Amino acid sequence: MAEASAPLRILVAGAGLFGREHLDRLIKRDDVRIAGIADPNPAACDLARARYRVADLFTDPLEMIARVPADGVIVATPSSTHVEIALRAIGHGRAVLLEKPVAPSADLALRIAETAESAGVMVLPGHVLRHDRNHQRLVEIVKSGGVGSPLYVNARRYRDDSHVARYSDIDPVLMTLIHDIDLALWVAGAPFRAARAWRNPAVGFRSMTATTCITTTGVICDLRTAWTFAAGDLPADRLEVVGDRGSVELEVGRTLHHYAEGNCRGLDLVAPDDALANELDHFLGCLRDPQRKPALTLRDAAAGLNLAGGLLRSLESGGTQEVMA
Ligand SMILES: NC(=O)c1ccc[n+]([C@@H]2O[C@H](COP(=O)([O-])OP(=O)(O)OC[C@H]3O[C@@H](n4cnc5c(N)ncnc54)[C@H](O)[C@@H]3O)[C@@H](O)[C@H]2O)c1
Repeated sequence: MAEASAPLRILVAGAGLFGREHLDRLIKRDDVRIAGIADPNPAACDLARARYRVADLFTDPLEMIARVPADGVIVATPSSTHVEIALRAIGHGRAVLLEKPVAPSADLALRIAETAESAGVMVLPGHVLRHDRNHQRLVEIVKSGGVGSPLYVNARRYRDDSHVARYSDIDPVLMTLIHDIDLALWVAGAPFRAARAWRNPAVGFRSMTATTCITTTGVICDLRTAWTFAAGDLPADRLEVVGDRGSVELEVGRTLHHYAEGNCRGLDLVAPDDALANELDHFLGCLRDPQRKPALTLRDAAAGLNLAGGLLRSLESGGTQEVMA
C-alpha cells in the first residue's frame, strides 16, 4: 500500500487531448506527483513540459515505465497501443488506469486481465461515465426497482465530424459507442447474447451507426452514435431505461426525469460534476487502499468489447451476430 502521507507518483502515457485532461486534474492535487510523461510527438512533449513542469519527459512510455519509480500509470494513448503499455506497466507492478477502449478486442482485454490478476495488479478501465454522478443516479433508480424490471435501454451519443479525422484509425463503435455499450451493461447487469448494427452511409466514419442488441436476460438495447454534426451545438447525450413499471431518462447536462406510477418527476441534476476528476479520485483511492474494490474490472470492459466485436462483425456481414462470451 502507498504510504498515506507521501504523494502518489503517477506516470502519464499519452499527452494528447485526453492525456492533458488527466494531467490538468492531476496537477491540481497535492496528494499526487506527476512523476513522468511520455509521448512520441515532440509538440505534445513541449506543451506538457511547459504546462505541467515535469522534468521527466519521454518519447517512449515503455522506457518511462522501466526507468521511473511510480505507484500508477495512466494510459491515454491511441487504443492500438494500450495492450503493450498496460502489460509493461503490470510487469513492473504498477497499477493502471487504462483509457477506453481498453484493447482493440475482448480477447486482448482478457489477456491483460489474466496477466493483471496473476500479478495482483489493479487495472481500472477508463469508463468515465461510471463515475458521473448523474449516470450513477439513473442507475441507482433502476437498481432500486424504480422502473420495475428493466426491459429496454436507449442511448445516443452524437459527435462533430472532426472525429472522422482525429480518430481515423478507430471505428466509432470502439471510440464512442463503447460508452453506451458499457452503460447498457451496467444498467442491464447482464451480458449480451445477440447484436445487429447498421451504418448509413455504409462506408466511412462520417455516418450514423445504429445498433440493436439483446442481453441474456432479454433487455433490448438501441444504442446509436453519429459523427456527422458540425462543431457547435449538438443534441445532448441521452440515456433512457424503460422498465415494466416506468422509465428514467437522462439528457446529459439538461434533465433527469423519472416516470413511475403515473407521475413524472424532474430530478435535480448534480451540477457541476466532473466525472474524470471523480474517476481519478477513485483510482488514487484504490492505490492508497488495495482493499478498495474498483468500480469496474477489465472483465467488465471485455464484456463490452465482446459486444463491440459482434457489432463490427454485423457491420461487415450485414447480419445478426451471436455474441455470447
Ligand atoms: N474517456 C473518455 O471519455 C475519452 C475521451 C477521449 C479520448 N479517450 C481515450 O483517450 C485515449 C487518447 O485519446 P486522445 O483523444 O487524447 O487522442 P489524441 O490523438 O489527442 O492523443 C493521443 C496522444 O498519444 C500519443 N501517442 C501515440 N502513440 C503513443 C505511444 N506509443 N506512447 C505514448 N504516447 C503515444 C500521440 O502522440 C498523442 O499525443 C484514447 O484511448 C481515447 O479513446 C477517452
